[in-house]
Amino acid sequence: MHSVDPTTEQMIRAVLAYAENRLRLDPVPLDGLSRDPAALNTVLAGLLGDGPHNPDQVLGAYTSCVAPAVISADSPRFLGFIPAAPTKASLLFDMLVSCASIQGISWLEAAGAIQAENLVLRLIADRAGLPASAGGCFVSGGSAANLSALVVAREAAKRRADGADGRRFRAVVSADAHSSIISTLRILEMDALTVTTSDHRLTGPALRAAIEADGDPASLAVVAATAGTTNAGIIDDLAGAAAVAREHGLWFHVDGAYGGAGLFAPSVRRAYDGIEHADSFVLDPHKWLFAPFDCAALLYRDPALARSVHKQDASYLDVIHGDPAQWNPTDYAYHLTRRARGLPLWFSLSVHGISAYTEAIEAAIRLAGQAAAEIGKRGYLELIREPDLGIVLFRRTGWTADHYTGWADRLLHDQVAFMPPSAWEGETVARFAFLHPHTSMDLVREILDRME
Ligand SMILES: Cc1ncc(COP(=O)(O)O)c(C=O)c1O
Repeated sequence: MHSVDPTTEQMIRAVLAYAENRLRLDPVPLDGLSRDPAALNTVLAGLLGDGPHNPDQVLGAYTSCVAPAVISADSPRFLGFIPAAPTKASLLFDMLVSCASIQGISWLEAAGAIQAENLVLRLIADRAGLPASAGGCFVSGGSAANLSALVVAREAAKRRADGADGRRFRAVVSADAHSSIISTLRILEMDALTVTTSDHRLTGPALRAAIEADGDPASLAVVAATAGTTNAGIIDDLAGAAAVAREHGLWFHVDGAYGGAGLFAPSVRRAYDGIEHADSFVLDPHKWLFAPFDCAALLYRDPALARSVHKQDASYLDVIHGDPAQWNPTDYAYHLTRRARGLPLWFSLSVHGISAYTEAIEAAIRLAGQAAAEIGKRGYLELIREPDLGIVLFRRTGWTADHYTGWADRLLHDQVAFMPPSAWEGETVARFAFLHPHTSMDLVREILDRME
């Protein structure tokens, strides 16, 4: 299994040939039509057993059965949830990271990889206006990053409330905070103070009113704002929220897992003003910074504090902690072993330059504006709100939830688009999530025509 024998040679040729063909797909088709577990099992059953199988047979099962039963998140026709659009450069380099088993735990083991990753983190921190002292690490996703950040926020509150042992802390959130924030609060045994907002946007005045009306402000630990809500792409009033958080001595967390990439888009940059005050900030490059799964940037204003919370102590780890000047990404989140998952982004950014990223992000914002205008022209459609980023919510007048489901099913069946319906204020609605720079207005028109 670990030597280069004829079977290994056969696999290198076959798997690399498959990967090459996959990389050359332009555009990537949607696929994902089959989800029947019985059909999947017919092909897969029997492959996992005590004995070996010819690699061509196993790869054949993958290509004929597994791959077509996956909807390609990197297709320009994938317009649901939050899509992915990794650059070819980042995908290629991801293969290299895997082939070389590059981990990024400690400076001792992986100084080169960590330095490259940290330069990318610095670039993101600079775009956000965070101080030179800011730092962090890449984790697997926005959920892991939100959890790791809020653990630090809670610990900071605990330390401040010295003597109030056993207190249950709370986070101030809006109803549009991502589900991972709410799940994090459950894990941390924290409660939410949910601020009532108008137009689903957390503002400074609404936040202040909620805190001032609250009966137990001493239990508040953190304000968690969102820079680009998942369902609608709304950027909270970060400057207002930051000011109120500071007034009340609260940790200011900004979840930009989806929308944080807009920091690279001059057309919307001003909407992020105030992000520079964040105590912790999350941005998922596997979403809108065109990195492969899985990659989330987690930054802290005061990394030493985060380190004091997350650093794992064990006798066998003492050796990586000998020199406090050495940066160990493992110390800044809930993990020990970690893939150097920032490297594919580093490679692609270096190859293409930041301007290419700016243009690709602006393309999705432009397309959202054009789609909104097109919706406005069609009498049978209603735009729910002007898009701030790349997400467009709209309704087909007279439709019920079943109409939306049937329309979305047909879109996928016909391989036109993957665009599951969403909800807005309790009503089923349609939702474009634009992210891939090659998604076209022609496709948008075709999708809208199918609602007539
Ligand atoms: C705003 C926001 N936060 C957090 C997450 C969770 O990120 P992940 O799916 O990478 O865990 C998402 C995912 O869509 C998101 O949009």
